[in-house]
Amino acid sequence: MDPSQSPSVTPTKSQSTFLALPKEEQKVALFTLPKFRLEVYENEMIPEKLLDCAVDFVNEMLPGENFEATDFSKIYGKTCLYKNIFMYYMNDRLVGVSVCNFYPDPDPEKSDDVLIYMMVIAVDKGQQGRGIGSKFLGSILQMNNQSDVWIKIHKENDQSQGFFKKMGFVKRPKKCMPEILNPSYRKPYEVFVKKR
Ligand SMILES: CC(C)(COP(=O)(O)OP(=O)(O)OC[C@H]1O[C@@H](n2cnc3c(N)ncnc32)[C@H](O)[C@@H]1OP(=O)(O)O)[C@@H](O)C(=O)NCCC(=O)NCCS
Repeated sequence: MDPSQSPSVTPTKSQSTFLALPKEEQKVALFTLPKFRLEVYENEMIPEKLLDCAVDFVNEMLPGENFEATDFSKIYGKTCLYKNIFMYYMNDRLVGVSVCNFYPDPDPEKSDDVLIYMMVIAVDKGQQGRGIGSKFLGSILQMNNQSDVWIKIHKENDQSQGFFKKMGFVKRPKKCMPEILNPSYRKPYEVFVKKR
């Protein structure tokens, strides 16, 4: 789905700037260190083989999750506007994958804005703890510096909770998470948000 053609939601300023770029440029977000490369695909625009590669990568990093290609690429329900799949390369090796769902902000005063639900973020196991996750997340957040970002994290995933706290996310009671962002999560979880 092309979010610029969404009937009811106007993209924010940063979204519009991004969407006005030629498609090729949208795919390559500039990052200051040349050895790092971030590629961004919209839900159904990701080449099939790359999608499989992203799914396999995340399933290897998060055993027990068992994501399928459609979880990353398809839009279910009417509320989600679109998804972005972020793939992070270091020296041309895939070292990080994240999937973010974008929803219209339900707050009537912010009806032009979007909320971001970070469905997953994973860094190559052998490369964790070396600053890649923070660079990766930082470059995702930099692409949209206006919208609140929400994530559900498995209650027992202390490592990930520590990481998100370090990155400025704050734990919130579950009831604070906007209803619109409430995709199911099989395991007991905690809610974190980065307000902007
Ligand atoms: C969570 C994850 C993405 C973090 O990526 P990473 O590359 O290991 O993280 P970084 O090395 O960039 O760490 C960034 C900062 O967070 C800190 N941090 C990381 N884990 C932490 C923890 N458990 N407690 C406190 N701080 C932590 C680091 O010390 C670092 O701070 P510093 O810059 O001051 O040293 C990665 O570990 C991962 O992929 N885990 C498995 C998948 C997962 O659980 N994903 C989240 C749920 S979808």
